[in-house]
Amino acid sequence: MILYKTNEQVELMRQSALLVSKTLSEVAGLLRPGITTLSIDKTIGEFVRDHSAIPSFLNYHGYPFNSCISVNDVVVHGFPGKYELKEGDIVSIDIGVILNGWHGDHAYTFAIGDPGAAVMQLIAVTKESLYKGIEKAVAGNRIGDIAFAIQEHTEKKHGYGVVRELVGHGLGKSLHEDPQVPNYGKRGSGQKLKEGLVLAIEPMINMGKKDVYTDDDGWTVRTKDGKPSVHFEHDVCIRKGKADILSDYSLIEKVELANPHLFTGQPVAALTEG
Ligand code: MF3
Ligand code: CO
Repeated sequence: MILYKTNEQVELMRQSALLVSKTLSEVAGLLRPGITTLSIDKTIGEFVRDHSAIPSFLNYHGYPFNSCISVNDVVVHGFPGKYELKEGDIVSIDIGVILNGWHGDHAYTFAIGDPGAAVMQLIAVTKESLYKGIEKAVAGNRIGDIAFAIQEHTEKKHGYGVVRELVGHGLGKSLHEDPQVPNYGKRGSGQKLKEGLVLAIEPMINMGKKDVYTDDDGWTVRTKDGKPSVHFEHDVCIRKGKADILSDYSLIEKVELANPHLFTGQPVAALTEG
């Protein structure tokens, strides 16, 4: 069942999404070689609770941490732990909150030092594909139009692997609402998009093949070929003509650019043809 949000509800959800953006920007300022992923998770839990919200991933189907911290070949749902980030790592940080009863859920991938041009391109293209998907997230289009745009840019144009097993989703008073939002599919297929639908759109893109497996811990999703994977996620509300992006990467990007330990490479625009 699809639950469409009123404008008042969308404004509450914007506050939830923005709290995730603020939490990610707080984290962006701390990232450096030597920091453990568990200490990042601890900061996330404290920051969220200090802002009158609760971390929504904690205890979700038994998930044991505040956040998902996925390094290099980990696609998503990485467990925070003793691991110390090092030069050349890429790390996707995915955070969910419940604020005033409404969920925010989004993610961002950072580069610690320089992971090399090929990995920086994977990061740039994945982020770019998220925006290409969002361009199609307008009333009258269908879920398949979002999916196709993401797959076209990452798989067809750049030869990357689009993860099939995990998808984006509706978002609201629950973390996962209908409909599912795959990152692959056919133009013009699937659920028709109507105003007030809030979606978490989240491309998970592998440098190599699309295949993944889950670790013995029951959560950590890794690439089968061991190559890196990148994850970006935005919360968006469907509107006529142009989607309303509820989360805000500019807050994160500002801190990312100012942190000398983080590599940002060339701007996404420089990688796009024409
Ligand atoms: N962004 C992810 C998702 O929407 C995070 C869920 S992690 C979990 O599915 F721990 F909450 F399951
Ligand atoms: Co999500």
